[in-house]
Amino acid sequence: MSKPITSHASSPPIAKRSDDDEERANMALIFNKYKGRITTLRKEKGWMTENLYMYQGFWHQSGRRISIEAVMAIQDTFKVHPTDIYLATMPKSGTTWLKALVFALVKRNKYKSDSLTHPLLVSNPHICLPFIESEIFRNTPTYVDGDSPRLLATHIAYTSLPQSIRDSSCRFVYLCRNPKDVLVSMFHFANKLSNKSSGLMTFEEAFKMFSKGIMPNGPYWDHVKGYRKVSLEHPKNVLFLTYEEMSTNTTNIVKRLAEFLGYPFTEEEEAKGVVQEIVMLCGFDNLSEVNKHGNIREGIPNSVFFREGKVGDWKNHLTDEMSLVLDEITKEKFHGLDISFPNQVYKINHGE
Ligand code: A3P
Repeated sequence: MSKPITSHASSPPIAKRSDDDEERANMALIFNKYKGRITTLRKEKGWMTENLYMYQGFWHQSGRRISIEAVMAIQDTFKVHPTDIYLATMPKSGTTWLKALVFALVKRNKYKSDSLTHPLLVSNPHICLPFIESEIFRNTPTYVDGDSPRLLATHIAYTSLPQSIRDSSCRFVYLCRNPKDVLVSMFHFANKLSNKSSGLMTFEEAFKMFSKGIMPNGPYWDHVKGYRKVSLEHPKNVLFLTYEEMSTNTTNIVKRLAEFLGYPFTEEEEAKGVVQEIVMLCGFDNLSEVNKHGNIREGIPNSVFFREGKVGDWKNHLTDEMSLVLDEITKEKFHGLDISFPNQVYKINHGE
């Protein structure tokens, strides 16, 4: 099943990149359009950027692709298609992995996972399956390659999605991860990509901000809660998964994903090992090797999306006290939502 991997994820073969200049010009126009609205918003110190801005209950960066300007532009101009498939996550919850798995399984007839030219072997999952937030800056958003269904990802909170998406019956997959691992992952990611004049963050600073809900697209708990509630109300439209269950039970989760998205594996495919091939193709070892070199775009190395890829790295970073604080917040915020991580269960509480 496993095959030798050649590492060359530097040129995007799927989404044809529009001219950098054109994209930069669009970004400048959009940033300028919303400048006035942003200056009126509450702000806090950022993780990678100088500031984060509070908009509709969530913190956003400004002047980047994943930004408040992108959210506003999407709310103003984005058009939903009834067959769209959306992957929603808080940053650092396993977005890259989920993108790879969904891309590989939905496109398995077009791109065979045992082919050495499979897009996931020559490109980054973020190129194969883009964020709406970055596509909105393009003159002609590729939305992969024009195929239906369009596969799109987003970090936007449920309540900030355009009404047309919320009114649609499009399918959503939400991937949630233990907040302690999200904090650790975000801390490393932010320090790698930081362009703040004040320099790098300490872990204590990151912990304090995270606990107060201040991180890009946070508060973490409100983001998860928004999608969790919809998944409980509309289970046919929203599949709620955790990074932890995906790590321990990848094969079953891939099968569940395939069924939910309307691409179930046939008995023949299962017998031929197609599910396992997809799991291997999208596994951390494989993708981190493919993405060892090159940049997804200027200043963002492919490798920055792959660090440890493990459950529970928080144990190497959080003190007992920090862990307790986050447990308490999580218990309170996830009350009644039946969300669990290993060793921690935030079950529906019937008043006990
Ligand atoms: P760590 O920093 O804990 O290692 P996102 O994709 O939402 O930005 O999340 C990044 C996290 O997912 C990182 O976690 C990264 O290592 C992990 N990750 C990326 N690809 C993965 C894969 N194929 N399998 C498991 N984890 C993966």
